[in-house]
Amino acid sequence: MSTSDGNVTSGIELWDLFENHFPSIVKQLIKAPPSLNGDKDSSIMWSYERIEELLNYNARSGKRMRGLATVSSYLHVMGKDNVKEEDLKIALSLGWAIEIMQASFLVADDIMDQSQTRRGKPCWYKNDGVGLQAVNDSMVLESCVFLLLKYHCRHKPYYADLVDLFREVMTFTELGQSLDMETSEKPEVDFTYFTKERYYAIIKYKTSFYSFYLPIACALYLTGNADETTLKKSCSILTEMGCYFQVQDDFIDCYGNPDITGKIGTDIESNKCCWLIVKALELCSSEQRQVLQKNYGKWDKEKKRAVVDVYEQLNLESHYHKYEEETYAKLSTDIKEFNHPNIPRVVFLELLDKIYKRKK
Ligand code: IPE
Ligand code: IPE
Ligand code: MN
Repeated sequence: MSTSDGNVTSGIELWDLFENHFPSIVKQLIKAPPSLNGDKDSSIMWSYERIEELLNYNARSGKRMRGLATVSSYLHVMGKDNVKEEDLKIALSLGWAIEIMQASFLVADDIMDQSQTRRGKPCWYKNDGVGLQAVNDSMVLESCVFLLLKYHCRHKPYYADLVDLFREVMTFTELGQSLDMETSEKPEVDFTYFTKERYYAIIKYKTSFYSFYLPIACALYLTGNADETTLKKSCSILTEMGCYFQVQDDFIDCYGNPDITGKIGTDIESNKCCWLIVKALELCSSEQRQVLQKNYGKWDKEKKRAVVDVYEQLNLESHYHKYEEETYAKLSTDIKEFNHPNIPRVVFLELLDKIYKRKK
């Protein structure tokens, strides 16, 4: 094992281990240019300074939940005494690949949602000299993900499965984002779209697969435990957990503290089909529904206030806390009943405990 006391699973050590691996990822991405037919053309190197800044700005400053979960579950599944240095390096690199995928989605998401800040800084597209170039930057970040997979796993027997997994999960995310965006581009607020069923489809696809299933599926592939039953059973628990995570994100969008979250919510203005509005529509009177109809989906402070007033009248905060307790209890039971030789329960428990009652 690579660390001094051998205990890489403790939070702090894992953070450092992951952090210390980042420079080598950047180096690899900017020092080894992609080649075609084995030919390397150095004139493309001019674009690399930009890539370094792109990675530093967009891939480093999150909570790193996905990247850390990749490494931590790899260690749990493998048993940390059996881990070889070179295999740990692959797990760390895949963890960063997922964080870079996250960066790619967020750069695009912030343009689409017209957000101002992300992780306490201006959104990437808001920076001087970036603007709509951020659309291409999001695609460059996506390419970095696949370059990393190639550099680290090209000769592994699971390479093709891993590339498929990343592609599929990205497709799911994009389809989820597409559903999510559908309502925000409508000029008229049409609440017939805002059903629970549609809401759960949006969040399962836009968030769960890439945020919760992907890191754990990577750990299973790396350790040779990715048989169909293990993947399927894990996926069902992890996508549920992912939905819980996105409901939290929706609550935080309106009720979170931007000093803590580093972002300012835009769900009400951008006409999003999110947890609060779906719950409000379920509980409201016809008068309150009219108020929501008149004020939702408008870039206007007063109108946003009117929507939040209805949320307060309906006591949505306490409904959310009830949802959170019930979901935590349900997931805890599911995990207790999860009994599968290829993956220890602690993988799921650790994730659940990390997100329970989160404020950011
Ligand atoms: C934000 O994800 C986007 C969602 C899927 C809700 P995180 O809350 O994990 O964001 P960072 O990476 O920690 O900033
Ligand atoms: C998160 O969407 C999903 C993806 C980025 C793929 P949101 O729009 O709900 O996330 P935040 O609130 O901007 O982080
Ligand atoms: Mn957003």
